[in-house]
Amino acid sequence: MIGSANGGSVSITGLGTHVPDRVVTNDDLAELVDTSDEWIVERTGIRERRFAAEGEALSDISLPAARAALERAGVAAADIDLLIVATVTADMQFPSTAAILADQLGATDAAAYDLAAGCTGFMYGIAQAYGMVESGLSRRSLVVGADVLSKLMNFTDRSTCVLFGDGAGAVVIERVHEDGFLGFELGADGAGGKDLNLPAGGSRMPTTAATVASGAHYVQMNGREVFKFATRVLVSSARAVLEQCDLSVEDVDVYVPHQANVRIIDHAVAKLGIPKEKVIVNVDRYGNTSSASVPLALADALASGRLKEGDTLLMTGMGAGLTWGSAVMRWTGAPA
Ligand code: ACO
Repeated sequence: MIGSANGGSVSITGLGTHVPDRVVTNDDLAELVDTSDEWIVERTGIRERRFAAEGEALSDISLPAARAALERAGVAAADIDLLIVATVTADMQFPSTAAILADQLGATDAAAYDLAAGCTGFMYGIAQAYGMVESGLSRRSLVVGADVLSKLMNFTDRSTCVLFGDGAGAVVIERVHEDGFLGFELGADGAGGKDLNLPAGGSRMPTTAATVASGAHYVQMNGREVFKFATRVLVSSARAVLEQCDLSVEDVDVYVPHQANVRIIDHAVAKLGIPKEKVIVNVDRYGNTSSASVPLALADALASGRLKEGDTLLMTGMGAGLTWGSAVMRWTGAPA
């Protein structure tokens, strides 16, 4: 799916994030599996990540992020009419975490649902909210990108458990006077789904003592295949969405790629020819936070003053599905 904005201006007017308190270093993980700080830093760029506490669920880390986004936008929860939670680690199978969160926030008039597109969830979510607001179906949408993948990691599998961390980001999306979203490109390759999945716990393989014993209720990944996919789509999706918006790589002021692995980002940046000073990287502090990765990096871009009003912002996510998604926007500067 690809398209450029051709109607009224719709933008992000508030951004909020939250990460759990508990910092887990590479040395901490080296006490659980046969790994080292040196290996993890060299192969991934990750130095530490946050893990939710025991009993801390997705809605618990999403609520502060959502409240902060609403506050920055100056919007009351009751004025939100669409709440999307992009995640693969919902509180439970149902009800949706979006419905739980809507109740906690007091967003009593909101349509609320979860969206599963792996680490691309936030990108899919903002594209949906854009479409709903642009069409007039929603006046103000709240999109949360959040995951607590630490709950689904196999802490005896060194090839996956060192990569992920927990976090939440939320944005308010509504009409603005000018600028905002310029275009989107989203895609999926289901044939690659086998390379990154969590097989048990669904209707194909309900959780039983046998699935637990086999570890099928944990994240499974073919790292090399996912690496190849990720480096390919970061480049192809960015090029496609820029072309759709009649922009070139030189027009990009700030680039926020999905934070999975610094080697994946370096590869894409070199191929695209984007100067490093325009690229936001925080995977060293958070690891791969899945749906929270892009909003957490956006927050860093704002906090450091690197993303300013009028800047052309390129964001790309990719992940399980396999899925990918890019957006280009002219930043409208509302969030502080
Ligand atoms: N510590 C030490 N050694 C390890 C670790 C570890 N944590 N993990 C794997 N190894 C070993 C392997 O067992 C292997 O040993 P062997 O040669 O004796 O068999 C060796 O390191 C090399 O393994 P590779 O898989 O070739 O290592 P690679 O350099 O490809 O890095 C990695 C592995 C980091 C998983 C990489 O493939 C990767 O980043 N893939 C992308 C995965 C990803 O980002 N997924 C996120 C979800 S999807 C998304 O967000 C896009």
